[in-house]
Amino acid sequence: MRRSKYKIAVNLEWTNACNANCSMCPRHMIDKTEIMTESCFAEVLGRLKPEEVFRVVLAGYGEPTIHPQYAHFIEMLRDHPVRFDMVSNGQALDDDRLQEMDGAIDLLIVSFSSIVKEVYDQVHIRLDQERVLENIRAAKKNLTKTKLAISLTPTTECLQTLPETIEWFQKRGIGLLTMSPTLYNRAGSLREEQKATAYLRSIIRQYGLRSQEMEFIPSLWDSAKQVYHNRFRCLPRNAVLPIAVNGDYQYCFNDIGRKRTLGNVRDMSLGEALRLREKTGPDPELCAGCNISSRYKSSEIAAVIKHYQSQKTGEKRHAA
Ligand SMILES: C[S@@+](CC[C@H](N)C(=O)[O-])C[C@H]1O[C@@H](n2cnc3c(N)ncnc32)[C@H](O)[C@@H]1O
Repeated sequence: MRRSKYKIAVNLEWTNACNANCSMCPRHMIDKTEIMTESCFAEVLGRLKPEEVFRVVLAGYGEPTIHPQYAHFIEMLRDHPVRFDMVSNGQALDDDRLQEMDGAIDLLIVSFSSIVKEVYDQVHIRLDQERVLENIRAAKKNLTKTKLAISLTPTTECLQTLPETIEWFQKRGIGLLTMSPTLYNRAGSLREEQKATAYLRSIIRQYGLRSQEMEFIPSLWDSAKQVYHNRFRCLPRNAVLPIAVNGDYQYCFNDIGRKRTLGNVRDMSLGEALRLREKTGPDPELCAGCNISSRYKSSEIAAVIKHYQSQKTGEKRHAA
């Protein structure tokens, strides 16, 4: 069996059901809600090799913490050689779930829009801000091995209250704050707002926020190989292989309706799925509404590389 020639990240969906209905999330494009079965998850685990996958992010389009077998799934992945991170809206992260994930999950990333309740309620619809903040405080206090990060929501309605939101976390010793430098485009429905984007990036620089993109670069050498081997040179797509709730390998994270799958974990290895994807070109429907790939012009790539190198140097100095 031939392996992939470069490393990638996997975005894995335990469920596409969610306890929220966030304003920026294109959930309306999901046909039916499902949960991953235990046998499917076991197949997925068998497909994840550290030589090919440097990081698995449990996220997808649902909320991983509400999977009915959450505790069992955490135990299943605990001794797996690949690193697992989890993205959550924080609502269901009670003491039991936090304790269960401690040490099994490398990095817990809680998505958060605004410290101002009115803004939070507009964005994170159906969630209880007070409860989420309480759970974040408990995570900060009680997680001994799993690291905690906050993923700030880059939408126009959050920009105004971003500085006070950042300061609220920093004052409480929660310093690992990440943010995408590209506004979420609600699967193509948002027109690029240049002023808002410029402001977003100035805040990222001012507060030294961590760019989420960096977390998806295994190494510059692997990124170069991703570019070389893929006919379609879309960096964000080629860096991540999404695996949907039913075990389908996906062409791109933006294929929410799963119209262009590559195959299933039951039938093919991850390397085989990547080789199929390498031969594909852009998808007229999916790519037309995407504002992420256009961000990767050569000047932007140079900036990403520079930033990646400075972050890596900083991490090494910090560890020394
Ligand atoms: C879809 S959520 C699923 C995990 C979890 N339910 C949560 O809310 O964090 C995963 C991440 O995608 C982000 N997200 C939501 N809508 C998005 C969009 N239109 N474009 C890009 N990312 C989006 C969320 O902010 C979150 O950090």
